[in-house]
Amino acid sequence: MKIKKCVFPVAGLGTRFLPVTKELAKEMLPLVNRPIISYGVEEALASGCEEIIMVTGRAKRSIENYFDRSFELEEMLKARGKTALYEEMLKIANMAEILFVRQRQPLGLGHAVLCAEPICNNEFFAVALPDDVFINDDPVIAQLIRVHEKMGGSVIALEVVEPENISRYGIVKSQFEVEPGVHKIIDMIEKPHKEEAPSNLAIMGRYVLSPRIFELLHNQTAGTGGEIQLTDALKTLCNLEPVWGVVYNGRRFDCGTQKGWLSANVQLALEDPELRNVILDVVNAAQAQTE
Ligand code: UTP
Repeated sequence: MKIKKCVFPVAGLGTRFLPVTKELAKEMLPLVNRPIISYGVEEALASGCEEIIMVTGRAKRSIENYFDRSFELEEMLKARGKTALYEEMLKIANMAEILFVRQRQPLGLGHAVLCAEPICNNEFFAVALPDDVFINDDPVIAQLIRVHEKMGGSVIALEVVEPENISRYGIVKSQFEVEPGVHKIIDMIEKPHKEEAPSNLAIMGRYVLSPRIFELLHNQTAGTGGEIQLTDALKTLCNLEPVWGVVYNGRRFDCGTQKGWLSANVQLALEDPELRNVILDVVNAAQAQTE
């Protein structure tokens, strides 16, 4: 069956962005001219997903509002003849069918995914963590869906990481490479020390998951950081059903940390013909001052 649903867990507290995230949803921070979350949603839609499921928390109302109609604003833009902006606002509100489900307490990523169970029925579904922004003509979710369609089972996006970064990610153990860049996963561990890591293949924020994951998440106890970890349930899943790992093609911008987010903004602004000179002028002026 075609993958139609994509779950976005967005109920985390965003502590690495405090104090900004005391009131503002991290997913609504701008990446050049759009909120971070919109990149992930567009990727899911471009990958053929038709239903977006957001798992939200208390401080995330602005995400719901962003994807909703704003009649007052639309009327004002229309009345002032700002047609292009008016149409852009309509386009955002009509972009996708979005369902919202609450995670009442931020008990971890695994728990957030479990909150989507009533909507996901008994189908395979995609999961996208919006902090990881992927920019590629061939969307990363689509790359995973193709592997699922060919091989069956669940699929995880992987990236080869430097040893010093291993302890930041879930790391997988590959049994073999079935084709270049596609691994059969037989084990995984969340945020290991680099000495105990089974490989340098790190799990990135895109998945195609079997509905069996819900049964495992129900029984999952808290792991690293006292949170119910998706990686722990996936570790059990790969003993029961095939789990594939795909070294994705494309560029990833880690917008989950202040440094990563700032760097992503600068890199993407440098690629925008209208903004490139803004960045270069600032950098040149700063360099001139130090000389
Ligand atoms: P992170 O580990 O990045 O946590 O979650 P966070 O709360 O967003 O940010 P920090 O670490 O405190 O700075 C990965 C993804 O899982 C979601 C987050 O919203 C993010 O998209 N998540 C995490 C939930 O939806 N619920 C949770 O209980 C935890």
